[in-house]
Amino acid sequence: MPIPLTYSFARYLSAKKSVDDRALNWHVWQGLVAALPRATPEQPLRVLEVGAGLGTMVERLFAGGMLTHAAYTAIDLEPVLITEARRRLPQWAAAQGLQVQQDSQAQLHLQRPGQDIRVATEAIDLLRFIARERGQRTWDLLMAQALLDLVHVPTTLPALLSLLRPGGLLYCPITFDGGTVFQPEIDPELDTAIEACYHQTMDRRLVAGKPSGDSRTGRHLFTHLQDAGAEVLAAGSSDWVVFAGANGYAADEAYFLHFIIHTMDSALTGHADLDAGRFTAWIAQRHAQVEQGTLVYIAHQLDLLGRVPAPPGDTKE
Ligand SMILES: C[S@@+](CC[C@H](N)C(=O)[O-])C[C@H]1O[C@@H](n2cnc3c(N)ncnc32)[C@H](O)[C@@H]1O
Repeated sequence: MPIPLTYSFARYLSAKKSVDDRALNWHVWQGLVAALPRATPEQPLRVLEVGAGLGTMVERLFAGGMLTHAAYTAIDLEPVLITEARRRLPQWAAAQGLQVQQDSQAQLHLQRPGQDIRVATEAIDLLRFIARERGQRTWDLLMAQALLDLVHVPTTLPALLSLLRPGGLLYCPITFDGGTVFQPEIDPELDTAIEACYHQTMDRRLVAGKPSGDSRTGRHLFTHLQDAGAEVLAAGSSDWVVFAGANGYAADEAYFLHFIIHTMDSALTGHADLDAGRFTAWIAQRHAQVEQGTLVYIAHQLDLLGRVPAPPGDTKE
């Protein structure tokens, strides 16, 4: 596909779905399936997803048979993404043969025999959400996909875990872990310098003056979870690997690649350690490789499944 003239984050997230589907770690996914409590009409599975984007995890958990009786809360900072999730989910649900009822703008009720799922969506910052909900509600499963590398984990993780019931689960797939690889090489030295500068922008990211990002969040999560008193039940890599086959890039993945290159361009233009002319030429060449179907992109990421302690004698499964 030609280089896009404008970029949409919502389209990027939609294009990312097929890349994530290939990447998600099967061992960790199976660990999640095994650890989930049994849901019943009286005790539906309570799921909270933070940074939910378009709500693609609802679709994925449903496809994986994990949502029979469920109360799913999906929040995201960006109103435009929540609006798109509210447009997309009813269409998707109807295509699955689910009966779709819109309880309110913010709540969708999906049913078919033996299945009852309520999906609540809200545009809100996760820290504001935690401050509002702490001590009011708890969840069985908390999910944060491709999110923790964007926040200050040492303070955010304990706050998030406080919303779990005792023995509750945390699933954080697609957590970036310090690898951005493009093939074929253009200039090994420049490629390496650009990767290092890009990761540095993540490490130096500030939100409201607070450090909010870590290019090696995945590996650091083991310690963060331990420090927060949670046990790691399963972990494994979930690298994105995007390449063009005989029919080109799969689904909308050419757009996904253009978006990644555009993101790097925006993050690094004017960077003091990069020669402006060489960097501009590098970006143009990477876009051209997507158009030609020769670009291979690999991002190293980890999936982790954790659990907060259950009180002794707790038998809820
Ligand atoms: C990389 S996207 C991943 C979206 C989705 N989880 C997925 O994998 O498709 C990160 C998401 O986190 C959201 N986000 C970032 N900071 C947030 C915050 N403080 N509170 C709530 N959502 C946040 C962004 O708006 C974005 O939708």
